[in-house]
Amino acid sequence: MDDIRINADRLYDSLDELGKVGAFDDEFSDRQGVCRLALSDEDAEGRRLVRSWYEEAGLAVGVDQIGNVFATRKGTGHNLRPVMTGSHIDSVPTGGRFDGALGVLAGLEVVRTLNDAGMQTLRPITTAFFSDEEGCRFRTDMLGSAVATGRVALEHAWSLTDRDGKTVREELERIGFLGDEPVGERTPHAFVECHIEQGPLLIRGGQDLGVVTGVQGISWWEVSITGRSAHAGTTPTSFRNDAGLVAALINVRLREMADSGDFGEMRGTMGVTRPHPGAINVIPGRVAATVDLRNPDDAQMARAGEAIREHALVLAEQHGVQIEWQQTAKTGMVPFDESVQDRIEGIASDFGLQNTRLIAGAGHDAQEWAAVCKAGMIFVPGEDDGISHNPREFSTKKQCADGVNVLLHAILALTDKS
Ligand code: GLV
Ligand code: MN
Ligand code: MN
Repeated sequence: MDDIRINADRLYDSLDELGKVGAFDDEFSDRQGVCRLALSDEDAEGRRLVRSWYEEAGLAVGVDQIGNVFATRKGTGHNLRPVMTGSHIDSVPTGGRFDGALGVLAGLEVVRTLNDAGMQTLRPITTAFFSDEEGCRFRTDMLGSAVATGRVALEHAWSLTDRDGKTVREELERIGFLGDEPVGERTPHAFVECHIEQGPLLIRGGQDLGVVTGVQGISWWEVSITGRSAHAGTTPTSFRNDAGLVAALINVRLREMADSGDFGEMRGTMGVTRPHPGAINVIPGRVAATVDLRNPDDAQMARAGEAIREHALVLAEQHGVQIEWQQTAKTGMVPFDESVQDRIEGIASDFGLQNTRLIAGAGHDAQEWAAVCKAGMIFVPGEDDGISHNPREFSTKKQCADGVNVLLHAILALTDKS
């Protein structure tokens, strides 16, 4: 193996710089979190910063119609498809500095390292960031990469709205990232993403790095519960149609289902519950809630989705409320390419890094690219049991550098050897 290595200080400095965009002081720790909701002003600022770094690195930058930004370093071969890497700049409202940002800056660092070494590759290398991976503003995740790879139609993606009724297209235009490159025209030779694990398995297992075998299924629902608002003090229990209570009971049922083991490795979360009118002395007449289901087994996922909706029908009858379910996102279990996994594992072991294979619990852009080329992912462990979607999210310089060095060598192998 070539002894070329990335510049860990430069990588970590760039993470620091990007981490200042949309930063806020966490009220529960001494860390700073980031809020860069998709297509917000903060997301735009992060995008401009990374694009300027792409330009400084001499890359050819293109923006597609869904706002994905691709930056390419030429190869020496003729008409060869590139090896692509990348991730996302957007975050959840209380995000950390590493989710997505590590993968974006990993790609940049790979290119900077090759530039410093004056090293050519046969295939081009494209490093990229994709629009709205998180999905919590426009209600569907991995949006940019899903459009680029054909799972979601561009017109549908453009028409998605946030809570204020602003569309993806309007917001792309407003922030200056409605590109003119047609979507779906980039089919890489291979795609590899470096990302933090966002969970406890690597750190608890004493592992330096994870080789990702695939991404579990995700099913998102918006649940609208309509009862009748009434006076908190005067309305006897038997006269109530309490939408807030029903939301709570659905949430409890999700936990019972997960704990029962009857739905495989199911996870269930009610992340949003917005009662209307939201006043101390008014029984909620309406609740807007969300349900996030995860499962590595598609059949179990389908069973869990049916079971919770059947239970909701019983609750609706018991409590005299109406419940509507709208599916806003759905992806099945996506396995990654075995040869890419083997290559990542081989490189990590050559580096003397303790590594293990594991499935991704979170959604990732790489799972969309897996539809059009061989794809894989490298996971970096995180401190504090890998906590993520939280400002405490933290991986050390060494943990990040190990992941990006393995990424560099995986990309080098894929550009020249297969
Ligand atoms: C994305 O981070 C997700 O898995 O929700
Ligand atoms: Mn992410
Ligand atoms: Mn995330």
